[in-house]
Amino acid sequence: MFCEDCRVKTPEDQEVPKVGVEILGRTFQVPAGITAVDALWLTGHALERGVGCLGGVCGACTMLYTTPGSPNFNVGLGCRTVITEGMSFFPFPQRGRSRYRYDLSEVKDPAGELLDHFDRADKCRHCHGCTNVCPQKIQVEEAIELAGKGEFEKAGEMFLPCVMCGACLAECPEEMEPNHILLYARRGFAARLAPPPQELERMAREIREGRFAAAMESLIALSDEDLRALCEEGRG
Ligand code: SF4
Ligand code: SF4
Ligand code: FES
Repeated sequence: MFCEDCRVKTPEDQEVPKVGVEILGRTFQVPAGITAVDALWLTGHALERGVGCLGGVCGACTMLYTTPGSPNFNVGLGCRTVITEGMSFFPFPQRGRSRYRYDLSEVKDPAGELLDHFDRADKCRHCHGCTNVCPQKIQVEEAIELAGKGEFEKAGEMFLPCVMCGACLAECPEEMEPNHILLYARRGFAARLAPPPQELERMAREIREGRFAAAMESLIALSDEDLRALCEEGRG
């Protein structure tokens, strides 16, 4: 059968091999090579949450899955995890918000104040849970240790690929909220510890001092037509 609109074969009819998967306790046959999110949709699971960008960026689609022959649970992003024969999976349960709050504009010494804002940041028992569970393969435990030593720049850099999926937060037996500690380290470094962006500061100073005021006034005074012509000239 073909789709009436585009004359492309619908996924059900393409002659692709099928794999058997278990979703929320029910078994289905779905085309091989698709992602877990696609499999959920194809099998009629309307996701009202737990899906967003479909590109591995937003971290909304965390899921738990097992594969045949392995006793372990795995964590992956549903939009990036290609399903395989015998996989069993379900979307990650809804998570609450972080219980930690801080106002970055009032943080003067981010590293020195770490325990003021995250009172369990020194409770790591080195269980490797956060690192094992991270779908982005971040060495979360190591980054947490660096943050604890005040090495916010290194910790923040390690944290760059994080999509805030919340898996490490759910996994941590000490309820440390590793992802939020590392986000704080990154923010704190950028706000207080990184050297100021000199070029940006120079441009902001020049704007404040009125260097572009006359040019801006003359642009504002232009008619739409003249403005368009000027833009075209600029493009050429
Ligand atoms: S560091 Fe934590 S929140 Fe970030 S991607 Fe890894 S598991 Fe998810
Ligand atoms: S899950 Fe928590 S306790 Fe375990 S290594 Fe990570 S931060 Fe430490
Ligand atoms: S939907 Fe955004 S990471 Fe999967």
